[in-house]
Amino acid sequence: MAVSLGLEDVFIKYTGLTYIDGNAGILRYRGYDVNDLVKNCSFEEVAYLMTYGELPNKEQLSKFEDELKSSYKLPDHVLSLISELPEESDTLTMMETAFASLSSGDYKWDKDNDKKQVAKILGEDLGIISNIYRHKTGKKLQNPDPKYGYAEAFLRNCLGDNVNEKKIGAMNSALIIYVDHEVPASTTAALVASSTLSDMYSCITAAIAALKGPLHGGAAEAAYKQLLQIKTTDNVEPWFNKNILEDKKRLMGFGHRVYRTYDPRMKIFKGIAKDMITDNEQKKLLDIAEKLEDLGVKTFGSKGIYPNTDYYSGIVFNEIGFPITMFTTLFGFSRVLGWLAHITEYVEDEERLIRPRAIYTGPEERAFIKIDKR
Ligand SMILES: CC(C)(COP(=O)(O)OP(=O)(O)OC[C@H]1O[C@@H](n2cnc3c(N)ncnc32)[C@H](O)[C@@H]1OP(=O)(O)O)[C@@H](O)C(=O)NCCC(=O)NCCS
Repeated sequence: MAVSLGLEDVFIKYTGLTYIDGNAGILRYRGYDVNDLVKNCSFEEVAYLMTYGELPNKEQLSKFEDELKSSYKLPDHVLSLISELPEESDTLTMMETAFASLSSGDYKWDKDNDKKQVAKILGEDLGIISNIYRHKTGKKLQNPDPKYGYAEAFLRNCLGDNVNEKKIGAMNSALIIYVDHEVPASTTAALVASSTLSDMYSCITAAIAALKGPLHGGAAEAAYKQLLQIKTTDNVEPWFNKNILEDKKRLMGFGHRVYRTYDPRMKIFKGIAKDMITDNEQKKLLDIAEKLEDLGVKTFGSKGIYPNTDYYSGIVFNEIGFPITMFTTLFGFSRVLGWLAHITEYVEDEERLIRPRAIYTGPEERAFIKIDKR
């Protein structure tokens, strides 16, 4: 018997959802390259693809979009719950609370109903995350406008009229890029919950709890803070020598358990960042990031450590208009789709309680000692 710490190299399910080739830097959703999907699709089309297995035709898409829009509106209790939380609460804590409050103890899994439930939850996801942002920024909470598609409705509910085609395009791309990545810790947590036939909202709540930790969701934030700390392009090399080479700190936004080359998602984010930036301060951060990337790849490339998706995503989120405190929650906003796709696939195709074993290493059997003798 051997324990695989971190479940490294343990396969826990079959999947038709996401394919990763970590050596070649390839990521596909249901057979389609992520680059093609980002270039050509709306988030809604990708959501349909993940849920139903095929890209939708026009009629199917329009019906699915209507299903999503009809659930942008949140039940009143969810809005009041978010508004009751302290404004300074962590945004993922708010997300957890909102999703948990929608769960019910008596959800019955069933193939046809599950897919409708996915569309409903994705609509609510938009309502929840945009209202978390509204609450954090002291705005009165309101339901998103169902006149707009997913990315635009989200941005309008967060940023009002401070929205343009570039921002909507970038948000749509970010949503697609973060949709799914096989079975990282958060998806595994969702799968464990779903394997007990717990309801979908509870499974998402379990996933958010796992996403919250700095080893999983927090890298975009850390990578962006790193750039702020470096401050100037002239300081990139001295900062790198002191912090990474001398003090052996990790270069944030670099390295990945699966990729041994450039993460394809990072390249897309980098392209969007370069295309979007107009502001001088942001341009400076991008220059710092590129110089640091070169240095990082020169130093760590031979070990298979390259920039990952979170390296440039913070620059893009910030350029759209979001503060650092929202980065991980924006990742979670999109990943809800991946969690739902994996749990429905698991329950519908494999349905087996996930219940691993542990190897006991504690004391041998010993005689009980009453409390007054201890
Ligand atoms: C993502 C991460 C946890 C994956 O790590 P992993 O597969 O478990 O690899 P390990 O932590 O075992 O590291 C293997 C080696 O690479 C080094 N390494 C890994 N990532 C590194 C980084 N970002 N900077 C410097 N060295 C790194 C480790 O120090 C270790 O070196 P050693 O063999 O000399 O001890 C890791 O790369 C990391 O911490 N990255 C920074 C955080 C980040 O960007 N996370 C987002 C992931 S999408």
